[in-house]
Amino acid sequence: MQRLTLMVICLLGPAVQEAQSQCPDQCNCLPNLQHVICDNKGLKEIPQVSESTNLLNLQRNSLGSIPAGAFSESRGLISLHMQHCQLTEIGSQAFKGLKKLTYLYLSNNEISSIKPGAFEDLTKLTYLYLDGNQISRLAKGIFSPMINLFSLQLSNNKMRELRPGTFAGAKNLRWLHLSGNELQTLQPGSLDDVENLAVFHLDGNNLSAYPSAAMSKLRVVEELTLGGNPMKTIPDYAFQSFGRYMERLHLDNMGLEKFSDDAFNGVTAIKSLHLDNNRLKALPKSLKFGTITNMTLLNNPWNCSCQLNSLRKWLDSIESRPDAVCATPPSQRGKQISNSTSMRRCKEKPKLPKRRQQH
Ligand SMILES: *[C@@H]1O[C@H](CO)[C@@H](O)[C@H](O)[C@H]1NC(C)=O
Ligand SMILES: *[C@@H]1O[C@H](CO)[C@@H](O)[C@H](O)[C@H]1NC(C)=O
Ligand SMILES: *[C@@H]1O[C@H](CO)[C@@H](O)[C@H](O)[C@H]1NC(C)=O
Ligand SMILES: *[C@@H]1O[C@H](CO)[C@@H](O)[C@H](O)[C@H]1NC(C)=O
Repeated sequence: MQRLTLMVICLLGPAVQEAQSQCPDQCNCLPNLQHVICDNKGLKEIPQVSESTNLLNLQRNSLGSIPAGAFSESRGLISLHMQHCQLTEIGSQAFKGLKKLTYLYLSNNEISSIKPGAFEDLTKLTYLYLDGNQISRLAKGIFSPMINLFSLQLSNNKMRELRPGTFAGAKNLRWLHLSGNELQTLQPGSLDDVENLAVFHLDGNNLSAYPSAAMSKLRVVEELTLGGNPMKTIPDYAFQSFGRYMERLHLDNMGLEKFSDDAFNGVTAIKSLHLDNNRLKALPKSLKFGTITNMTLLNNPWNCSCQLNSLRKWLDSIESRPDAVCATPPSQRGKQISNSTSMRRCKEKPKLPKRRQQH
């Protein structure tokens, strides 16, 4: 920076007020310096850019850390790109002054530590990308300045648990991506601050039990992915608190053996359900097929008895029928469910009580 300033003084003499409006060494600047592109330029320090810059791309430079106030003269930034910068730590007040920043990309670094106050001043931030780092814990309230945060990308880190207060203040969070961490528990209360989540990705973690207490605070989840967690059962009322909104549910590759009878209570809008690569023999009565248009069922040991009759009817009713093969009883083994003969004489259970009343 100093070098640049000196150079400008030499060139322009007293007219140095405009020093900050020069394009930083080695970077490419688009008209009026609104976009400053320093992608893969071997930079070791963060360049100062003028207040008129709204996009700064620093990808692929080995920056290591972000000193406090690094962006103090770059107050106009809306979008800041720092992927692949070998960052290991986000210090306190790293982004001080960036009150207009809306997009912050910190993916694919080696960040293991985010100091309290790291995100101070980021009141406008809407999209935060922290995926592909080494984050194992997040201080209580770390996101609290971000009252406008909409999307938080934390996939592929080393988180082992979620604790209450982690998302304090991030009341508008709608998309939370936590795929590919090492989560074993979501503590009760850990989601209380983000009750409006619409998209919640938890696939590829280490959850061995469905975190009912934490999940029951969510009200409007539309998409939930739990694939790849070693969960053997889904308990009663698992999705009840957001069942009217849930359209997409991924429960694939889990070693899932059983749904409790009331697991799907309250689920009324589901369109897409993924159950492939589990150990399921049956589906619970609480699962209503009426709204489903996309389902995967492959690689489960389905027991082709009357319990699967409503599934068979659903399979008959749709055009692109997914593969689903019977494992038992022995006479049906290897047959497609829709071709199984063991459900021919199944009774229509739901209507029986009414008929009895009428007689
Ligand atoms: C998953 O959790 C179990 C304990 O529940 C632990 O033994 C195992 O090491 C964990 N695996 C990973 C990849 O974290
Ligand atoms: C069904 O859902 C899967 C996973 O979301 C998607 O990849 C696929 O395209 C969908 N298929 C249809 C027919 O919508
Ligand atoms: C399959 O379902 C039938 C009828 O409910 C039951 O009697 C049988 O034990 C089940 N078989 C297996 C392997 O679970
Ligand atoms: C279903 O059965 C029919 C007649 O038995 C056979 O032609 C067809 O290939 C079977 N379909 C599947 C998907 O197994």
